[in-house]
Amino acid sequence: MSSKNYFIGLMSGTSLDAIDVAIVDIQPINKIGCEDKISLVASHSVSLPKLIKSNLIHLSFEQNVNMQILGHTGVQLAHLFADAINDLMDKYKIDKSQITAIGSHGLTIRHQPNDEFPFSMQITDANLLAQLTGIDVVSDFRNMDVAVGGQGAPLVPAFHQALFAQQFNTEAGEQLDDNSACILLNLGGIANITVLNPNAEVVGFDTGPANTLLDTWCEMHTQKPYDAQGMWAASGVVNHTLLDIMLEDNYFSLPWPKSTGKELFNIAWLNKQLELYTVKINEPAIKELLTQKDFQQLLPEDIQRTLLQLTVITAAEQIKTFTHTKKLFICGGGVHNQFLIAQLQQELPQYIIQATDSLGINSDALEAMAFAWLAYCRVNLMSANSPSVTGAQKKIVMGSWYSAKADKVIN
Ligand SMILES: Nc1ncnc2c1ncn2[C@@H]1O[C@H](COP(=O)(O)OP(=O)(O)O)[C@@H](O)[C@H]1O
Ligand SMILES: [Mg+2]
Repeated sequence: MSSKNYFIGLMSGTSLDAIDVAIVDIQPINKIGCEDKISLVASHSVSLPKLIKSNLIHLSFEQNVNMQILGHTGVQLAHLFADAINDLMDKYKIDKSQITAIGSHGLTIRHQPNDEFPFSMQITDANLLAQLTGIDVVSDFRNMDVAVGGQGAPLVPAFHQALFAQQFNTEAGEQLDDNSACILLNLGGIANITVLNPNAEVVGFDTGPANTLLDTWCEMHTQKPYDAQGMWAASGVVNHTLLDIMLEDNYFSLPWPKSTGKELFNIAWLNKQLELYTVKINEPAIKELLTQKDFQQLLPEDIQRTLLQLTVITAAEQIKTFTHTKKLFICGGGVHNQFLIAQLQQELPQYIIQATDSLGINSDALEAMAFAWLAYCRVNLMSANSPSVTGAQKKIVMGSWYSAKADKVIN
């Protein structure tokens, strides 16, 4: 096995829960880019410190951003990333000389691909990360796709396609076979699906909010960062009036390609839905139609339960539109929310729902693995965007390269 085909992927999504690190071995079997053998060597997650998390929230939501916080947070993140990488390499006795490059997603503070001047902004200091680890870094993956008219997101479906081609049909390389027809649902801060169909181009898009709203509401009312196993949500009841109001949000009926983030699905969005709910239940005509239950005080756990149902319904409704398969693989932190998965199964009774772990693919490390693969693609000058997913005008090489090496310095 060639030791030069190790890549590191670094991912921290909209949940702001942790930094996920994955060391991935990517062996080209024939020609680079075809029939890659992708395997996870090691992974771990490191929690984001509270101060960094609150600064990231400031940077994501405030109209007037504190430039000092912007600069400092990028540097602090580079230190955190480097420590997380160095610790994992120490633990598994992997030397930096074995790693070709780090693919670092950075932390998204704005994602506005539909603006008059579209952009997607992630922060970290990739220069410093290269120096602190002694490994080349590839970063800023999304904006080249945006530059050719794409959403810059989601980027993982192309990786899912490569990984599942290997999983189900190593002989045929990137050609998916009938066995590989399936849908992947990533339950991160935002929920996104990848649709793999051997007879069609890969499809992938964000279906709506998942953990980002669940975590925010849970923390506000229970002081816990997330609702473990969905037990708090399970103690509430779905309020269908509120759910229907939420479902009216324009995002859910937009056709794909589409992507979203905390710019839309945040506490301000939820407060707006709650305001609309109050107006609605006070409309005289509606009052008569509402059930007794809807008039009872809306408890915080009922709102949590309704938010969970929103995630379930918005994902399930989209999944049902792709009729070529009933195989659904799930990944991301939401896999651990047993109550959410049970509700999803109830909504999709004919589907076989399994975590990707059932295929030997670590469901917590999958997104970090994707960024290792994206770095591999950049290093080998391979395009890694899926125009059918992002809406980009063409396939393109993505990512900026920050070299850690100083062996070609010209004085
Ligand atoms: N045991 C659990 N029960 C319920 N939810 C969980 C559990 N473990 C993790 N999660 C959820 O998963 C989230 C992290 O998911 P992740 O896939 O890392 O999202 P992101 O990609 O946005 O960082 C946590 O914030 C939490 O909401
Ligand atoms: Mg995470």
